[in-house]
Amino acid sequence: MTIHAEIETPSRAKRLKAVSSAAHERVDNGVMAAAPFASRQAYERFLRFQYRLHRRVETLYADAALQPLLPDLAARSRLAALEQDFADLGLVLPQADLGPALETPEALGWLYVVEGSNMGAAFLAKEAVKLGFSDEFGARHLAGHPDGRGLHWRRFTAALDAVELTPAEDARVESAATAAFDHVEKLIGEEFA
Ligand code: HEM
Repeated sequence: MTIHAEIETPSRAKRLKAVSSAAHERVDNGVMAAAPFASRQAYERFLRFQYRLHRRVETLYADAALQPLLPDLAARSRLAALEQDFADLGLVLPQADLGPALETPEALGWLYVVEGSNMGAAFLAKEAVKLGFSDEFGARHLAGHPDGRGLHWRRFTAALDAVELTPAEDARVESAATAAFDHVEKLIGEEFA
């Protein structure tokens, strides 16, 4: 029974990956086309893109109602590390508003996208070294968790999968992940124009 259920019903995280894989490819291509590690100026644009995204979702990382659902959520925020990266480079933080609080299904969709981005950050962190930046200077927000990126991600997806939602709410999670990737694409377009 259990095995059949798993085959017929992929986990929420797997479904989110499937529905957003085309959007992820567009984002990946968009970032790579902008060559964010080709020069310091390009990296500064990349930092602004990241800062605006992480400011937008900071409200969710700090949301008291979400903490019991996603253990260590507040500690997952990379905003403080980003602020430190700006300080390392002697840059002024851009004006970027905090995003709105969201209901649980929408919050889960947005958090899936931003937490997942830390997986791709493994590659980006290696590239940043070429500019002299590391998880101790200038590229702190790209650092992996001390326990390893993979384990940190699996803890998140396990908690995400365990949240009890109705099918209608699950559809809202997927729409929100799509909206989040659309927002990421918009930010990339604006910062790397
Ligand atoms: C050049 C930029 C990027 C590259 C090269 C990249 C690469 C990757 C790679 C290799 C993975 C899979 C890691 C694994 O499963 O072991 C991944 C996962 C993921 N990335 Fe990216 N990524 C990039 C940018 C982004 C951005 C900007 C976002 C969103 C803000 C994002 C969202 C995600 C998500 C949600 C996942 C998890 C997919 C899953 O459910 O397994 N990525 N990325």
